[in-house]
Amino acid sequence: MSAPDVPETTLAAARQLLARRVGFRISPSVVGRLSRSVADEAAAHQLEMEAYEHRLATDPVLLQGLVDRVTVQETSFFRDPGQLEAFRTHVLPTLSPKVRIWSAGCSNGQEPYTLAMLLAESGVVDWEIIATDLSTPALERTRRAQYSDKEVAGVAPALRARYLQRVGPRWEVAGALRERVTVERHNLTDPPPFEPGQRRVVFCRNVLIYFEADAIVSTIERLARWLRRPSWLFLGYSESLRQLTDEFVLARVGKSFAYCLPAQQAPVPAAPPRTGAPPPASPRPLRPSRPLARRPAPAASPADPAAALLAAGEDAMNAGDIPAAVIAFRKYAYLEPEQPFAHLHLGLALEAAGDAPAARRAFAVARAAIERGDKAQMQAGLDGYSVDELARLLDAKLAGP
Ligand SMILES: C[S@@+](CC[C@H](N)C(=O)[O-])C[C@H]1O[C@@H](n2cnc3c(N)ncnc32)[C@H](O)[C@@H]1O
Repeated sequence: MSAPDVPETTLAAARQLLARRVGFRISPSVVGRLSRSVADEAAAHQLEMEAYEHRLATDPVLLQGLVDRVTVQETSFFRDPGQLEAFRTHVLPTLSPKVRIWSAGCSNGQEPYTLAMLLAESGVVDWEIIATDLSTPALERTRRAQYSDKEVAGVAPALRARYLQRVGPRWEVAGALRERVTVERHNLTDPPPFEPGQRRVVFCRNVLIYFEADAIVSTIERLARWLRRPSWLFLGYSESLRQLTDEFVLARVGKSFAYCLPAQQAPVPAAPPRTGAPPPASPRPLRPSRPLARRPAPAASPADPAAALLAAGEDAMNAGDIPAAVIAFRKYAYLEPEQPFAHLHLGLALEAAGDAPAARRAFAVARAAIERGDKAQMQAGLDGYSVDELARLLDAKLAGP
């Protein structure tokens, strides 16, 4: 469909308003969609283009109408199984009740109801989900919680039997799940819809991808101030905070990745002097903001071989060179046998290398080092995780298959 003839000034006004109020970036590929949306909205309100442009900035109904037309609701049940599995096996066991999850930009509800099924299956008793979006039709659909055959295709038959029931030609999410999912209108450029310090897990998948860089930064920085540390932010597969903000650290979680807000705020980083092109985007191993109190200086001194090995292992992980990371972390663990983080790093690298039995052994050694060590002393050295947090994480790893 060709884009209708909308004056440049009207398009520019709509574009600016969407960027300012809802964070939207109108990329060249969506200019056509914006033109059609503006033309349809003006027609729906029986307004000439000039009058529409004039009222848009001050009339919330007109802005909402435009938002409802330009937002994209693409979603599905169990959209990223690897990420969900990582959340289930590695993050969920570290959360204490009440488990509270925020599905931000929930679209038509498939994401929060997927999480609801996962939680119901997990055996966790006390949980709730808040599902928010900015689009009125999306919120209506989430509240209705009814889906077509095609839309529930991603739900395994056993889960379908337990949590979906036939209502005419559609499938409806069971009341027992719906009553734990609160659906609310929320604009991600506003403060989160709950008291600060209440939540530790946010799924905000495939939303920031449509945002201006400034809006991503302010949204993420607000989240960092709002969430209870340590916390986890799950983004879409193609989304990255790299070079936008350092508040969250990209962490390997099982076979997937998530952004972690460390237990304590990182001190103002002494940025290592970088030369040449920035390194390629790549996952980092799960680690606190600074793995150990004596985090190595950018160029680790040969007088501190353990620090140099830790840095070498991290660099190798960042570069995707898993075998080199395993070698460096193995040496690091050899030099620091009582340091649980050394064994955790080794375990994570071995996991990434696909050597599950060896990874398990490393996690067990890390767990034993925690048992043996002086907790208070150890705590002082871990400025990202609490010792208990680390122990829970290791227990979850060891409980896994
Ligand atoms: C592509 S869908 C993603 C749905 C789901 N998270 C997933 O990954 O399957 C993006 C959703 O973000 C919502 N959205 C866009 N901008 C938003 C904003 N500023 N505040 C809240 N939601 C927003 C859209 O309405 C849309 O439903």
